[in-house]
Amino acid sequence: MKRSILLLLLATVIAIAPAWARKAPKKFVHETVAIPEISPKVIAVETDHTQLLLQVDKKGSVRTVHYGAPTGEAAQFVSFRSGYGSLYGSGPMTYPTVGGRFIGQPALQVKYADGTHNTELYYVSHETVSRGGAVTTTLHLKDYVTALEVSLVYEAFRAEDVILMHSEVVNGGKKAVELLDVASASLNLDAGDYLLTHFYGDWAMEMQVERTPLTHGVKVIESRRGTQGTQNTNPSFLLSCGKSFSETEGEVIGGALAWSGNYRLSFEKNHTDRLNIVTGISPFASAYPLAPGARFTTPQMIYTWSAEGAGGASRNLHRWARKQGVYGGSQVNPTLLNSWEGAYFDFTTETLLRMIDDAASMGLEMFVLDDGWFAMDHPRNNDKAGLGDWELNTNKLPEGIDYIASYAHSKGLKFGIWIEPEMVNPDSNLAEAHPEWVVQAPGREIYQTRNQWLLDLSNPAVQDFVFGVFDRTMQLSANIDYIKWDSNREVSSFGSTFLGEEQDRFYIEYVQGLYNVLQRVRAKYPDTIVQCCSSGGSRVDYGALKYFNEVWTSDNTDAISRVRIQYGTSLIYPASVMGSHVSAVPNHQTGNVVSLKFRFDIASAGRLGMELQPKNLTAEERALADRCITSYKGYRDLVFTGDLYRLASPYEGDYYALMYVSPDKRRAVVFAYCLRYQNRGVGTHTFRLQGLDPARKYKVKEQNVDKSCWWGDGKAFTGAFLAGGGFNPALLKTNTSAVFLLEAE
Ligand code: DGJ
Repeated sequence: MKRSILLLLLATVIAIAPAWARKAPKKFVHETVAIPEISPKVIAVETDHTQLLLQVDKKGSVRTVHYGAPTGEAAQFVSFRSGYGSLYGSGPMTYPTVGGRFIGQPALQVKYADGTHNTELYYVSHETVSRGGAVTTTLHLKDYVTALEVSLVYEAFRAEDVILMHSEVVNGGKKAVELLDVASASLNLDAGDYLLTHFYGDWAMEMQVERTPLTHGVKVIESRRGTQGTQNTNPSFLLSCGKSFSETEGEVIGGALAWSGNYRLSFEKNHTDRLNIVTGISPFASAYPLAPGARFTTPQMIYTWSAEGAGGASRNLHRWARKQGVYGGSQVNPTLLNSWEGAYFDFTTETLLRMIDDAASMGLEMFVLDDGWFAMDHPRNNDKAGLGDWELNTNKLPEGIDYIASYAHSKGLKFGIWIEPEMVNPDSNLAEAHPEWVVQAPGREIYQTRNQWLLDLSNPAVQDFVFGVFDRTMQLSANIDYIKWDSNREVSSFGSTFLGEEQDRFYIEYVQGLYNVLQRVRAKYPDTIVQCCSSGGSRVDYGALKYFNEVWTSDNTDAISRVRIQYGTSLIYPASVMGSHVSAVPNHQTGNVVSLKFRFDIASAGRLGMELQPKNLTAEERALADRCITSYKGYRDLVFTGDLYRLASPYEGDYYALMYVSPDKRRAVVFAYCLRYQNRGVGTHTFRLQGLDPARKYKVKEQNVDKSCWWGDGKAFTGAFLAGGGFNPALLKTNTSAVFLLEAE
């Protein structure tokens, strides 16, 4: 009783006590972190014919105010205002982030430990250094609230007019964050109208060209295949600034992302008709964790700008690629005979030796043994078994690989061999020994594509294995000069037993794992020619090409289909990387039949090879093959190192034509194809040659024939005449072709 009276008294005292004697509830106060003011500036990234200008205002916001032809003094842009509404971040942000006022397509979205998504980047410093043939400008930006640091790196290749862009993110905070979206680059343009040329396709029809005007809103090109990122789309594009496409005139921007996994290219045109292009790794299922102090480096986005139309943009990319973007990009790779379409899995040592004899007698320079040479317990006699078991099948080839490779060398040929080290057939010893290495999701079916599963390259043990496959294959003979690295499936039901609960890392770390292996390969085998094959052209990107000398452009060897595939590829990638083979007719992929000469003339516009059983050729066909190979060797330096000019597009008419011109303009080779001949009354088609010196006289000689299809054959004409309408070879039948060599007098 006494106790309850006491409590009542205490409550009464508290209730009547003055306010100062009680503890006040804490009032919510919003505090804004101060951003240090800086002096406004304009940072110029320049090449011989282009200028990229980055404006920094006094708060440190960075905006892209110009990309295109040089404008003179960069400082003219210091007070430039775009007239952009404040809802868009008060202008064309150079690296727009989720947070602040920006509401467009972001380059960066970070989720912080407290659940917030806001990042606002401000300029801290920048520096410019010369290294690796480029002038590199790095801008250091910071979010002052979260301590996130972002560097934007611009590598300018002066003579090629190419600028590489990428970003690096460092978690400067004390807790882990998630990168929900982290682009390599964001490029803001103000041309009003934009015509996008991009690529679509499928197996055996890669790099089909599509063109679309960009309307207001967002257009996205994306791959979520995980591997084989270029089978259905390609991480590259040409953008004509204006309403129409021209090979020869107008401003064109070329872009390509150097990444062999999921990617996304987004093009957002806003109400002011400005275009923002955000490019990088796709955020699909990849909320990438970044620990305190850790750095994430994005892949390079390659940009070029040209005032000489699509042709100019392609030539810039090709020049850069040969010098910098492709492994061994300036070398001339050998012609070859590949065993695949000639023998498939069905061969003995004797079969291969006879093919080598034939290749040597036709003047080819290498023999490549494709699929089917390995696996004992689960022999690789079809595509259902053996992948993963990379020991020689001695029942099939008892004399061994060295015997065959040495035989090729004794005939003056180099020797190459096929591997597909990222894959495993369920029917293999490897699948039994290491089921945990297979890409899989708990409890779910592991789907097969081409009867095979994918190995999990995010796992370092798998990386060691894949490197070991390459390494051990190379040990089979000291005479192996070339490896064809195949990769025949995409990712499905993605998952890694190695990554545990951090499955968000899978898609990115698969690709990083692949690149780790390729770096090890290149450190040990710098001189081996390595072809990038992925069911044909499913890994044609500048990320892979950093390590590979060439690509197998497509499994489709039909010259008719190759016209569009090679045309599309040429928009972004140089001819030097384009493996292109003459195969048998009816074509194994399409059933089409075209002449051997047409097949040679198409294949000779890239790295020429043959992929058939030579013993099935008639004597007459052999003679033509000899002739075409000999003439190819006489002009192939132009294919490998010359400047490409596309003269007629297979999408725009009945002809396709292109030419390669030596840098000194003294020699050129012209390829012309009639794809559809409609009417004898129409007569010949005139091709206007490009890239020649107008004043110089060139002797023109048709290759691979006794009787030329052009009245001017064997004579000399000025570059101006050839460019001005005088060159009209008579290609008067569907699927006929001609190759002309031009040499300055
Ligand atoms: C797919 C490739 O693209 C072909 O050239 C051939 O190497 C096969 N794989 C072999 O299985």
